[in-house]
Amino acid sequence: MKKDLIRLTDFEREELDLFLFRARELKRWQKEGVVYKPLAGKTLGMIFEKSSTRTRLSFEVGMYQLGGTAIFLSTRDTQLGRGETVADTARIMSRYLDGVMIRTFSQKMVEEFASYASIPVINGLTDLLHPCQILSDIFTIMEKKGSYEGMTVAYIGDGNNVANSWLEAACVFPIRISLACPEGYEPDPDIMREAIARAGDRITIGSDPAKAVSQADVIYTDVWTSMGQEGEADIRRERFQGYQINERLLSVAPSDVIVMHCLPAHRGEEITQEVIEGPHSVVFDQAENRLHVQKAILEILMKGV
Ligand code: CP
Ligand code: NVA
Repeated sequence: MKKDLIRLTDFEREELDLFLFRARELKRWQKEGVVYKPLAGKTLGMIFEKSSTRTRLSFEVGMYQLGGTAIFLSTRDTQLGRGETVADTARIMSRYLDGVMIRTFSQKMVEEFASYASIPVINGLTDLLHPCQILSDIFTIMEKKGSYEGMTVAYIGDGNNVANSWLEAACVFPIRISLACPEGYEPDPDIMREAIARAGDRITIGSDPAKAVSQADVIYTDVWTSMGQEGEADIRRERFQGYQINERLLSVAPSDVIVMHCLPAHRGEEITQEVIEGPHSVVFDQAENRLHVQKAILEILMKGV
C-alpha cells in the first residue's frame, strides 16, 4: 500500500527513525561521491501554490541525485488553477507520476489529494504544517548534539505551521518543546491539545522567551509573517516586539545552545544579523539537510527499502 507523508503524527517513532538513519547513509554516500540511483525511471510532480527556494531545490536535486526526474508544476500554469478538481487532478497525476509533493495553503487540499491519489503524496508545507522541515531539523539536531533524545527545543515567535509541526514531532519523539508566543499567536488549538495529551509535561506553552530558552538545547525561530499573511505584516511586527532572537536572549540560554531557523529569515525582525551569522547558528547546515532527509523520504516512499 502506498504511504504518504502528510503529517508527522501519521507515523510511529520507528518509521520516522528509518528516514533519519537512511538520510545519514545517503548524506555520507553523497559526500563520498557514491553514485546511487534507486529511483531511475521515476518521476516526482511538485505542485507549488506558494513560493519556495529550499523545498523546490532540495526535492528537485534530490530526485536527480537518486536517478529520477522532477517536474515543477505551478498552479498558475496547470488546470488546477483554473478550477479542475483536486480529485480529478490527483487521479490523472497518478497515471503519469510516481509521487507528488505539494506546497499549498490548505491542509485539507493535500489530504483530499492524497485520498484520491494512488501514488505517495508529500506535504511540502501548508498553512497548518511543515513536516519535512521539522523531520530534517531533527536530523540536524542529531548531527549537532549526538541525539535528539531528551533535547529541549525552545520555539520563539509565531505559532505557525513550523511551530505546529514541532508540536506534532513531540507527540512522536521523546523531545521537549518550550514555546514562547505572543498572546493570540499560539499554535493551532487542536494540535496543542493533542500534543499536551500525548507529550504531557514535555510541552510548555508560554509567552516569555527568556524563560523558554533558559534550559534549551536548541533555540528555534521562524518569520513573524508567513506566506499568505502579508497584509498583517505591520501589526505582527508590533505584536512580536520582544520575541527576537538576539544576543541578549542568547545570554540567558545555556552556552552550548544551537540556533535554528527554517529560513527564509528576516534579519532585524525575528533574528538579528549577529545571531544568525554567529557561532551558535547552524542555519546553513540545517538548510542543506533538507536535501539528505528528503532523499530518504523519496527513496522510502517511492521505492521502499
Ligand atoms: N524552509 C523552507 O521551506 O524554505 P522554502 O520556502 O525556501 O522552501
Ligand atoms: N512559516 C513560514 C515558513 C516558510 C518556510 C511560511 O509559511 O511562510
